[in-house]
Amino acid sequence: MKLKSLESRVIIEPFRIRSVEPIRFTTMDEREKLLRDASWNPFLLKATDVLIDLLTDSGTGAMSSRQWAAMIESDESYAGSSSFYRFETAVRDITGFKHVIPTHQGRAAENVLFSLLVQNGDVIPNNTHFDTTRAHVEHKGGEARDLLIPEGLEPLTIHPFKGNMDTARLEQTIRETLGETSGETRNESRDNASGETRGKSQVEKARKKIPVIMLTVTNNSGGGQPVSMANVREVSRIARKHGIPFFIDACRFAENSWFVKIREEGYQDKTPIEIARELFSYADGCTMSAKKDGMSNIGGYLALNDDDLARECRSLSILTEGFPTYGGMAGYDMEAVAAGLYEALDEGYLRYRIRSTEYLGEKLVDAGVSIIQPTGGHAVYIDAKKMLPHIPPLQYPAWSLTNALYLTGGVRAVEIGSVMFGLQPDGTEKPAPMELVRLAIPRRVYTQSHIDYLADVVIHTYEQREKLGGYRIASAPKVLRHFSARLAPLE
Ligand code: F0G
Repeated sequence: MKLKSLESRVIIEPFRIRSVEPIRFTTMDEREKLLRDASWNPFLLKATDVLIDLLTDSGTGAMSSRQWAAMIESDESYAGSSSFYRFETAVRDITGFKHVIPTHQGRAAENVLFSLLVQNGDVIPNNTHFDTTRAHVEHKGGEARDLLIPEGLEPLTIHPFKGNMDTARLEQTIRETLGETSGETRNESRDNASGETRGKSQVEKARKKIPVIMLTVTNNSGGGQPVSMANVREVSRIARKHGIPFFIDACRFAENSWFVKIREEGYQDKTPIEIARELFSYADGCTMSAKKDGMSNIGGYLALNDDDLARECRSLSILTEGFPTYGGMAGYDMEAVAAGLYEALDEGYLRYRIRSTEYLGEKLVDAGVSIIQPTGGHAVYIDAKKMLPHIPPLQYPAWSLTNALYLTGGVRAVEIGSVMFGLQPDGTEKPAPMELVRLAIPRRVYTQSHIDYLADVVIHTYEQREKLGGYRIASAPKVLRHFSARLAPLE
């Protein structure tokens, strides 16, 4: 008799493990000393002192045997290596963009693009700028303006696409900005890509500009929430109507494509790669960190259609990244990315990836922990403002929870709150819109029992939440201060 086929609801890791890396167990007393020695900043801990490292999903994934095999076959020629052409073919196949400029990681692509496009006083709209993106815009004298839909800032509101841009506010921003004059705009015209300018630099009244509209998929700083295809289409329509270039920050484009497939009407029967191609078709270019959905430990690119801008970007990238057929990557890195981009779009992989994040989210919600809902793609974001109402925002509740997770269970997470975003360009401090702790899940690294343990650590900490106290910043740099700030617990 024929057996019935199994329809298991368990979504297993779609790989087996053939190479392992030991992780180190420490005691709570040891961790307290280690964290104090690291000035209460988990970024300053040694990775070997961390049991489960959820600091980031960036560059921390496990590569496949196919990626390693491709790396062995790489071509390390300085110019015109075949590894570059394989990389370029893969990026073009998926994005459809004409020009592909390799960079050593995502922020390098941002640096090249914004160095050429952004001038003093310019406004750059985005759903939410990631911290490096914001820092690059501000470094060039621009204003990074976040135009997320209101639901995106409400942790408990269920909405399928909480990463969407508020297109009414985008229209309004364009109307207002283009009508305004800015006090100090450089009146320089650029002759070439290295930024040489004609004539004298002068400060004069000029109309403000929006040199580019960005859209981050998925919206990392807003909870790893996806952007719908309808929203991408609408942002594109508005950008084109006003003649403004539209670029996608594409770090997690594959995860975003999966959410479109399962949540947006009309996409159920499309493959992730078809969805990704449609997404990119509405844009003029993208910046990419291949350390996320490129499934690689390093790498990135800037891809775009405009011939003149591409020529300028290539010339500038020679200064900071290297010759345009390697751009800061080794040939083997480009091979890893070329293979990784397709692996990130594999349906079995994406189903497992999104489900394992959701599984962690469900466990925490069941125990009463407030997280951003629905769970995002690459991470679970705990709402520390809700969990720790006794700690005021400028005593950094999300930082406090992050440290408590390390002390409790050797878990390293990251604060996305007022330490990361509170410092204003004029040196004042303002509470960030949300106080979040991000548990970012590296790709293909941890198993379900790691996730179960992790849930135990969070829940155990949650149960003792009244014991957590605030922090003060003892010293910090002016830019991206969270990476190296020194903190101290308040008595
Ligand atoms: N854009 C987004 C949305 C990102 O999440 C990141 C990096 C970047 C740009 C910059 O890319 O690191 O390759 O230079 N995010 C990492 C994170 C660091 O932990 O979320 P990069």
